[in-house]
Amino acid sequence: MAVSRMPVLWFLLGAVLTLGVGVSSAEGSRSRRHYDFFIRKANYTRLCHRKSILTVNGRFPGPTIYARKGDVVTVDVHNQGDKNVTIHWHGVDQPRNPWSDGPEFITQCPIQPGASFAYRIVLSWEEGTLWWHAHSDLDRATVHGAIVIRPRRGSSYPFKKPHKDIPIFLGEWWKGNVRQLLADALQTGGEFQPSDANTINGQPGYLFPCSRDGTFTLPVEHGKTYMLRLINAALANEFFFAVAGQAGTASPWSGPTRRM
Ligand SMILES: *[C@@H]1O[C@H](CO)[C@@H](O)[C@H](O)[C@H]1NC(C)=O
Ligand SMILES: *[C@@H]1O[C@H](CO)[C@@H](O)[C@H](O)[C@H]1NC(C)=O
Repeated sequence: MAVSRMPVLWFLLGAVLTLGVGVSSAEGSRSRRHYDFFIRKANYTRLCHRKSILTVNGRFPGPTIYARKGDVVTVDVHNQGDKNVTIHWHGVDQPRNPWSDGPEFITQCPIQPGASFAYRIVLSWEEGTLWWHAHSDLDRATVHGAIVIRPRRGSSYPFKKPHKDIPIFLGEWWKGNVRQLLADALQTGGEFQPSDANTINGQPGYLFPCSRDGTFTLPVEHGKTYMLRLINAALANEFFFAVAGQAGTASPWSGPTRRM
């Protein structure tokens, strides 16, 4: 249900994900979960350069929403930033509930600075890894996070339960202000400037200057299984993903379901 200004937006639903045919939940078994999202600016340093970005709760990538299949998640979004925002729950069908879908000026008026909006996210068939992101201007460059939907209580994964599961965001970082870069491109009719680095969980990785300390690492123990929940949070980039020395890769070309 993405409405994107960019011509190509690929996203991966997850390296390990079941795309089952929906089984509607018994209303009685729905659990409710609640989150508060505070939209605010925060200073982050990447590529030796500090800049102010829009975040949820000061975090980049933003907080993970955890739920079980069929739950209803309420998220109160409090806009403490200086511009209009909305949030979209990417991949959540929301049957008969479009008013929480998020695209600005399509299903809702944007949330103005100082205002709040209560989203009610109705999960139905979804299970696995989805994500949320801003759906206003290009705010999603930094305003995004994972939605982890575990099997219903009492149900199990269609594979051995992993020892750990970890969201992996493939993203992009610009040294400049993304909104300004878009405004410049629109004004001059030129290309939108490509990002200065691709990122994993918000970090460019140790091959980039000033990036060694922040490089994302995942310590693993031999013999245990780890579920990597892959999310393409780039604005307009396609990625291939593989773990060096491991069998199996996940890429948009091979479809969203792959086991690693
Ligand atoms: C970010 O840095 C600027 C300049 O140093 C400062 O004025 C501002 O208060 C900082 N913002 C936050 C949220 O810390
Ligand atoms: C901000 O949102 C309000 C409605 O919530 C709208 O009237 C206004 O035009 C928006 N401003 C911009 C710059 O989009």
